[in-house]
Amino acid sequence: MCSDFVKPLLLWYNTQGRDLPWRKTKDPYRIWVSEIMLQQTRVEAVKGYYERFLEALPDIDALADCPEDELNKLWEGLGYYSRVRNMQKAARTVREQYGGKVPEEKSELIKLPGIGDYTAGAIASIAFGKPEPAVDGNVIRIVARIRALKKDFSSAKEKRNLTEFLRTLTLPENGNWGDLNQAFMDLGSGVCLPNSSPRCEECPIMEFCTAHKSGIEMDYPVRTEKKPRRIEQMTVMLIRNGDKLAIRKRPAKGLLPNLYEFPNTAGILSEEEAVHAAEAITNLEAIRIKRVPEARHIFSHVEWHMRGYEIIMTPGDEKYPESDLIYAEAGEIEREYPIPSAFTAYAKYLNIHLGKKGPSYK
Ligand code: ADE
Repeated sequence: MCSDFVKPLLLWYNTQGRDLPWRKTKDPYRIWVSEIMLQQTRVEAVKGYYERFLEALPDIDALADCPEDELNKLWEGLGYYSRVRNMQKAARTVREQYGGKVPEEKSELIKLPGIGDYTAGAIASIAFGKPEPAVDGNVIRIVARIRALKKDFSSAKEKRNLTEFLRTLTLPENGNWGDLNQAFMDLGSGVCLPNSSPRCEECPIMEFCTAHKSGIEMDYPVRTEKKPRRIEQMTVMLIRNGDKLAIRKRPAKGLLPNLYEFPNTAGILSEEEAVHAAEAITNLEAIRIKRVPEARHIFSHVEWHMRGYEIIMTPGDEKYPESDLIYAEAGEIEREYPIPSAFTAYAKYLNIHLGKKGPSYK
């Protein structure tokens, strides 16, 4: 017999599940791309990127062979660029070790770079119909409420226990785990919402929910303290050299490796200090400096608090031989150089559109 809430949940998914581009295919490569994009990004934001990415890189070979700048440009605006770097590494492994075919088993998928427990479960179940749960924050919230579990699911042990509980669920004969996992995703994102805003009256499995019966669904899952983010202050220089702007490539190691940025320096500089800094890195003379709006960017563990200056230099191209600056026009930057969203406010100020709003690469 099928477990109590599973059937109504699947029924609800089949009639009211979201119509999403990656649900129109069983191609494991496409499902893999969607799951990687969806790891830290909302569905609405992913939609535009998904189609564009697959148009440029329609299969594993295309992804495996894509030059780094082009790959980053396709990802520009999505953030967490290690996702796409790992996906390319994994595509190369799939080509070399699996004959170019995405492996079907969760135990194999999980060996690939960038594929963790959740993503392996999602790909195995959605693309290959394997009976694998995919436990993310939505599933945790839903199950914690249904069964009124006062556990700390940030602990690996509790998460494993929850996965084991899910494995005991039985599906109706025509049901599959890909649908069940995606039903949890849809319920979690549209109905069983976090904090104090669940829409229990719309929930297809309300009658099975222990927390709801006592009116305490808001208390689940129990909250765990998060470490506060480290704040880094910096000064960003929008350096104009004639009709070109200065950018540079970030180091290959550390945050946002190999992406491009406007020159910047740690700490908050005064106008005078910024003039000195700009002259020192360009070997040109500053004619004018103007303060531009401050900006902030939040990463998972760090926050950048940025002061910005637009600095006009006496035009020239005598760069230091060791200078790492690149001078490029706005359109060229928009087309060819991947710039992370942390700099969106300054790119906008310069009339450079980043992400899927900019022209696609080439
Ligand atoms: N989040 C992660 N995977 C998803 C999927 N397949 N559908 C909707 N949201 C998701």
